[in-house]
Amino acid sequence: MKKIVVAIDGPAGAGKSTVSQIAAKKLGFTYIDTGAMYRAVAWKALQKKVEITDDVILSVLPGIEITLSYKDGKTKVFVGDKEVTEEIRTPEINKIVSKVAALPKVREKLTELQRKMGESGNVLMDGRDIGTFVFPNAEVKIFLTASVEERARRRYEELKLKGFDVDLKEIEKDIERRDKLDSERETAPLKQAKDAVLLDTTGLSIDEVVEKIVKLCEVA
Ligand code: DC
Repeated sequence: MKKIVVAIDGPAGAGKSTVSQIAAKKLGFTYIDTGAMYRAVAWKALQKKVEITDDVILSVLPGIEITLSYKDGKTKVFVGDKEVTEEIRTPEINKIVSKVAALPKVREKLTELQRKMGESGNVLMDGRDIGTFVFPNAEVKIFLTASVEERARRRYEELKLKGFDVDLKEIEKDIERRDKLDSERETAPLKQAKDAVLLDTTGLSIDEVVEKIVKLCEVA
């Protein structure tokens, strides 16, 4: 079978990383979580323990070394030698990551890295701009979405399980705020590629979504 690139884009909380990790494992592909890369930059900026301005974010870019290690269906994220897999998924990072992702210099650097990571093929990459910008020639493009209420409920369950004291309404507002920032930014905004398949996961189980993705990849 020819080596392919699968691009899965969509808004926050659509379930991209959950279903992408499982689908990639089933297909024997490498999974690349590009959101984790933007989160890693945000994490590095937070280590400065100062107010997060554009300059602070840009100051951590040169020399940042982000590694994604995908084994047994799970991704570990490293900045330099430090594993940050859990630390990049906190409400604190959620608050600043759209600001990080809106900076063209950040996007330029991470896009270059993502293209290198996808070069060898048989990768499944998820994010916001993979089918539109990072890999416009990807063999499979999927735009994964769900209603705001459902996406908020999923994030709520996920954070609650990790022991965070969270409020569903607050999460809903945060998701709406991030949708707006991600779709209205100037550089590579979140939008469905013309040739992407729209997959609305509202009311679908993880297994049902994975099955649809795997089917789309098998016919590509
Ligand atoms: O999917 P996520 O929530 O982990 O993404 C974190 C942030 O990074 C989110 O605000 C959107 C942004 N992002 C992006 O702009 N482009 C990507 N390819 C992936 C994520």
